[in-house]
Amino acid sequence: MVKQKNSIKIAAVPGDGTGPEVTAEAIKVLQAVASLENFRYEIEEFDYGGDRYLRTGEILPEGAIEKLKGFDAILLGAVGHPDVAPGILEKGLLLELRFQLDQYINLRPVKLYAGVETPLAGKGPEDIDFVVVRENTEDLYCGVGGFLKKNTPDEVATQTAVYTRKGCERCIRWAFEFTKQRNNPEGKRLTLVAKTNVLTFGHDLWYRTFQDVATDYPDVEADYNHVDACCMWMVKNPEYYDVIVTTNMFGDIITDLGAILQGGMGVAAGGNINPEPGGCSMFEPMGGSAPKYTGQNVINPIAAISAVAMLLEQTGYPKAGKRVLDAIQVVTGTKMKSQSAGRMGYSTTEVGDLVVDALAQC
Ligand code: IPM
Ligand code: MN
Repeated sequence: MVKQKNSIKIAAVPGDGTGPEVTAEAIKVLQAVASLENFRYEIEEFDYGGDRYLRTGEILPEGAIEKLKGFDAILLGAVGHPDVAPGILEKGLLLELRFQLDQYINLRPVKLYAGVETPLAGKGPEDIDFVVVRENTEDLYCGVGGFLKKNTPDEVATQTAVYTRKGCERCIRWAFEFTKQRNNPEGKRLTLVAKTNVLTFGHDLWYRTFQDVATDYPDVEADYNHVDACCMWMVKNPEYYDVIVTTNMFGDIITDLGAILQGGMGVAAGGNINPEPGGCSMFEPMGGSAPKYTGQNVINPIAAISAVAMLLEQTGYPKAGKRVLDAIQVVTGTKMKSQSAGRMGYSTTEVGDLVVDALAQC
């Protein structure tokens, strides 16, 4: 499939549970901003997820990856189904797409929007505004390992973290470039978060690569934190951080900490990015499929709408992306009572409508 210029080709995968509800609001906002900003997009919907798996026994049908490669971006709702064992859909859909589409950057902005409550006492939107760049294809996620003497008293299990020079260098380089472009007026700082005092092989490779790449970015402060200390600083002094670059597993953990600092799973969004020319990237709200809220029109669509903002920014429409982000903050700052499902003061569809209305004034 040939990607057309002047039009974004988007594959929507609404997925399970409340995924379709939040995806519908995200697309509603996309449609509104496209007409205001005069760009075109095409959306094709795919029914991948738990229901399809239970019906057909397959998660991604033959040829799905090749087909998806023809899109600029995937907009994902949620994966996770109460009747499917944990791990099956996560590995078979989410991780499969990340690996097969070589989405080697996992971009997680930790931004406290106007009007959103954080559990950190005395901290506000000016303090909580940093970005985590998580490597997305290696480390403990690579699936290398096995059992010996399974289910016996002598059982052995291994799970190997794999790091390659190519894998960490492309991520670190992207993070330096991102930090440079972000151009924080308070100073450009990229913090490598790892555990070089214990992981003296794998994280030594990361550390050396980080130092090497840093020489190409003299205007970016090349900083280092151990991951355990980083967790303390994220809580005590989140304003310290500008951009963090980290390994896949540590990135998974610290971005949930980041998500709660920014108001929780109803707000936090992530991008799985293949930055190479012609790459297909995937954008998703962090919250799960929330089966107990399905179909009630109470789930928070802000994270899914934030995923659209990121999609636009990353696919070459930064002005439109910024406009969506601004509109979101009008709604969180002046309308919504809470970011928790059922306590927003509005329904899911009403929050989507409010963001659409706010776009006009942004
Ligand atoms: C995330 C999620 C996934 C991960 C799970 C669902 C496989 O926690 O996107 O952070 O571990 O990467
Ligand atoms: Mn996670």
